[in-house]
Amino acid sequence: MAVSESALSPCTQLQRPFYLYDKSKIEANIRRFRSLSYPDTKIHFASMANDNPALLRLLRENGFGLFVNSLKHLALAEAAGIDNVVFASTGVPENVMRRLVRIGIWVNLDSVAQVALFGHLSPGGRAGFRLNIDEKSKNNVFIGPESRIGVMESEISSAFDVAAKSDVTLTGPHVYLGTDVTDIEDLITGVDRTIALSEVFRSLDFVDLGGGFPLEPDRFDFKAYDAALTERMTRLSERRGHSVTLVLEPGRAMFGDTASFFVQVTDVKERPDRWIVCTNASASLIPRAMFYEDFNPVAPAFPNGESPFDKPVDVVGATTYSRDFMARGITLPKMRVGDWLRFDHAGSYCYSMITRFLGQDMPPEYLVDQILHQLNTGICRRMN
Ligand SMILES: Cc1ncc(COP(=O)(O)O)c(C=O)c1O
Repeated sequence: MAVSESALSPCTQLQRPFYLYDKSKIEANIRRFRSLSYPDTKIHFASMANDNPALLRLLRENGFGLFVNSLKHLALAEAAGIDNVVFASTGVPENVMRRLVRIGIWVNLDSVAQVALFGHLSPGGRAGFRLNIDEKSKNNVFIGPESRIGVMESEISSAFDVAAKSDVTLTGPHVYLGTDVTDIEDLITGVDRTIALSEVFRSLDFVDLGGGFPLEPDRFDFKAYDAALTERMTRLSERRGHSVTLVLEPGRAMFGDTASFFVQVTDVKERPDRWIVCTNASASLIPRAMFYEDFNPVAPAFPNGESPFDKPVDVVGATTYSRDFMARGITLPKMRVGDWLRFDHAGSYCYSMITRFLGQDMPPEYLVDQILHQLNTGICRRMN
C-alpha cells in the first residue's frame, strides 16, 4: 500500500493507531468472487474474518451472504440487511438452536447428537452437516481426527440413521479444507472427497466448501480453481438430475490484502543484540501474531530513505505485558520518534480479533476510495 504522508494526514493527525482499507482492492476481490463460472454459486463471507458493519453492507450490496458462528454475528447480518445466512458452530446449546429454528436460519449441524437435537426442535426440518473428511493430502489440522469439528466419515451412516429417526433431512455436506491454501491440488483433493461423500445424501441441495482461499490473490490460480470446481459441480448436478448449489465461505481472501494497520513510533531503545521500536499501539490491537500465526509484515509507512538498523528489530506495544511484541527480529530502516509504521495484509483476522486485554482504545477504521501515491486530503472517512 504505497501512499504519501500528506495524503494520509486526515488519518494521521489524530496521532493514534488506525486501520486503513482500500476500497478499490475490496472491489477487486468482490469482482473475483463474483466471476466464478458455476451458475448456482452462493458466496457467504465468513464474518469472523471481519465484522465491520460498513463492509458487511458493501457485501450485501454485491449479493453476498454471510457465514456466522454466533448469535452476535447473526445480529450483525440482520443489521446489515443480509438475510442469506449460514450458521455453523460446535455444541450449539438447546436455547440457541431453538432460536435459530424459530427464525429459520440455515444450520449446518456438527455432530450426531446435534442432528437429534435439531430434529427434536424442528421435526420435518432440513439442515446440512459438517463433515470432517479423513482426506489428509497435506499436514492439515483442519481435517481428520485432530480436528475437533464435525462428523467423522465413520459416523456418517449413524448420522443419517439418527436423522431418519428424528425426521430431519440432511441436504448437503459442509467442510473446511484448510486456510491460506495456495496449492490448488490440495484444495481439489478435499473437494473430490467431499463430492464423493455427498453421494450418500439422498436429497442433495448443496455442497458447502468453506473458505481456504489465500490472503494474496497472486499466489493462487483462481481461474484454474474455478474451472476445476465448475467442471466437478456441473458433473455432480448432471448425475443428480438437478442443480446442486455450490456454497463458498471466503474469510481471509475477501479483505485480507485490502487494509493496513498504521502505528506511530514513540521510542527507540538499544539492547546488546537488537533494537526495540516502541509504538503507540499494542499486539492486542493486531493480535493475529498472538493467537493465530506468526505473521505480521511491517514496514515504514512512508519511505524515509534511512539505512537499516544495524541489529535485528523488535516492534513492541505500549504496555508492560512481557509478550507485547508486534514483530520480532525483523530488518527495518532506522526509525525516529513520530515516524509511522504500517502492518500490511491487515484486513482479515486483525480488527475482528482485537482483545480488550491490555486496555487499549479501539483504533478507528478508515475506508479510502483508492490508495494512490497522492490522495486528496479529506478522502479518509471513518467507517461504522
Ligand atoms: C467453516 C468456516 N468457513 C469459512 C471460514 C473462513 O476461512 P478462510 O479465512 O480460510 O477463508 C472459516 C474459518 O475458520 C470456517 O471455520
